[in-house]
Amino acid sequence: MPLLELGINRGDTLADWSAKNPYDSTVTENYVLNGEGSRKETRHVVFDLGDSGLEYKAGDALGVIPITSAQLVEDVLVALGANSDEIVDTHAGEMTLKEALSGYYEIHQANRKFVTSIGQKFESSGGSTEIRIVKRTRTSVASGQATIQWAWSGDEDDYPEGYNMMESGGDTAQELWKTLASDDKEMENYLWGRDYIDVLNDFGHLGFSAQEFVDQIDRLKPRLYSIASSPDFQPGTVHLTVGIVRYEGQGRAKTGLTTGYLADRVPEGTENVRVFMSPTRSFVLPEDGEKDMIMVGPGTGIAPFRAFIQQRKMDKAKGRNWLFFGDWTEAGEFLYREEINDFVKDGTIDKLDLAWSREGPEKVYVQHLMASHGAEIWDWIDKGGYFYVCGDKNYMAKDVHSTLINICAEYGGYSEEDAKTFVEQTLMKEEKRYLRDVY
Ligand SMILES: Cc1cc2nc3c(=O)[nH]c(=O)nc-3n(C[C@H](O)[C@H](O)[C@H](O)COP(=O)(O)OP(=O)(O)OC[C@H]3O[C@@H](n4cnc5c(N)ncnc54)[C@H](O)[C@@H]3O)c2cc1C
Ligand SMILES: NC(=O)c1ccc[n+]([C@@H]2O[C@H](COP(=O)([O-])OP(=O)(O)OC[C@H]3O[C@@H](n4cnc5c(N)ncnc54)[C@H](OP(=O)(O)O)[C@@H]3O)[C@@H](O)[C@H]2O)c1
Repeated sequence: MPLLELGINRGDTLADWSAKNPYDSTVTENYVLNGEGSRKETRHVVFDLGDSGLEYKAGDALGVIPITSAQLVEDVLVALGANSDEIVDTHAGEMTLKEALSGYYEIHQANRKFVTSIGQKFESSGGSTEIRIVKRTRTSVASGQATIQWAWSGDEDDYPEGYNMMESGGDTAQELWKTLASDDKEMENYLWGRDYIDVLNDFGHLGFSAQEFVDQIDRLKPRLYSIASSPDFQPGTVHLTVGIVRYEGQGRAKTGLTTGYLADRVPEGTENVRVFMSPTRSFVLPEDGEKDMIMVGPGTGIAPFRAFIQQRKMDKAKGRNWLFFGDWTEAGEFLYREEINDFVKDGTIDKLDLAWSREGPEKVYVQHLMASHGAEIWDWIDKGGYFYVCGDKNYMAKDVHSTLINICAEYGGYSEEDAKTFVEQTLMKEEKRYLRDVY
């Protein structure tokens, strides 16, 4: 892969590792944290920092640059009817189409721009339609393709010899495209869970050149992961807690790009896994080790709190540590159970509250446990304690936020409006004691 074309220079100084100049790390550990029978796949992945000189602090994130599965690349090449060796011009310079699709573009998730651009094909085709014939067998990828010009007579069964009308789509494809282009919701639903194999199955007969294709699809973006280790407790390594995204779309098993990469293509011992540090300025430990900390981190939200707790132990910080963790079940999803229990035993964790959402008839969430300990949470905050949240941004963090406001109103003696100002203005912005790492 022409990394140099990304601006990567192996001679750069150690401190220069970045998204454009990632460090080739070795994955030394990669295992599932869930208990037997769990329907979740949450992995603990350890990266060796070797002699990179990379440094980090608890609270920072690691950027991972994934590589797309070779199978998906092959299948998209076939669906596109393109030659893998064809040279394309990309944001990272000229390279073969195969290289581009493997490491520089997101082909596992179709985008709006590409689907919208398909309209030009219908407009420009007039009465004649260019059909790119694609043989859908793997062996024919390199040579088995041709582009033909063909004028439709108007008869339904008029199509070139050897061409399967089912694949050509014809009117159906145009109707589908019109619906998508005119209705945002339809477009959103169509794109959800569809990759370019799916889209090219619907529209590939219109014929897309390799260059046209890469010009419209999304560039590959690195993904960030909250670091789950303290550099003092786990020297020379970075630990991540990764929730693997797996789902079925259009009848095929699919994965998120980076979580699929980490789960399926990076076994222990894999070298050249490209990473870089993404330091945080805000999601940091209290400078004063005597300050108390309340940490709310269900699911993969536990990651930075494992790092914080390890760091507080190394620092021999005197402040108290209170952890709220939760997930589906204690047996299946109590991530880092032994470590957490050990930290409770040795006194590093002073208080531990666990919310299991799928054990009984009622959902128990972290904010329910917060509410039942409202007086004590207020007491910690009133005495200068810090409040941290990590994990799901869309639901959990919002509910935890309003629960915190309610606690401050009820036990701090504020009106509802003043409690909101206290939490959002005083705690968050002025005193920076309410810190969030949500995604
Ligand atoms: C600061 C920060 C810290 C983070 N820390 C962590 C962490 O510690 N651990 C962690 O696991 N993640 C963390 N994340 C999230 C992480 O960066 C990735 O977003 C996540 O791992 C998914 O990446 P992916 O490449 O595997 O998925 P993507 O390829 O980005 O795919 C996700 C997309 O897949 C599609 N999709 C998902 N489910 C379905 C479905 N059922 N049907 C159809 N389509 C679906 C959706 O379009 C979704 O947006 C963090 C994010 C940020 C910003
Ligand atoms: N799940 C995955 O496979 C996966 C993979 C990668 C990333 N992600 C994303 O990464 C984040 C963390 O994912 P995760 O799987 O570790 O954990 P998660 O989906 O956030 O679930 C952790 C716990 O939070 C509970 N929860 C759901 N809604 C809640 C709410 N409103 N308030 C409080 N708790 C709530 C869940 O319960 P219930 O589910 O029982 O309601 C579960 O017990 C989320 O943004 C998620 O979308 C998820």
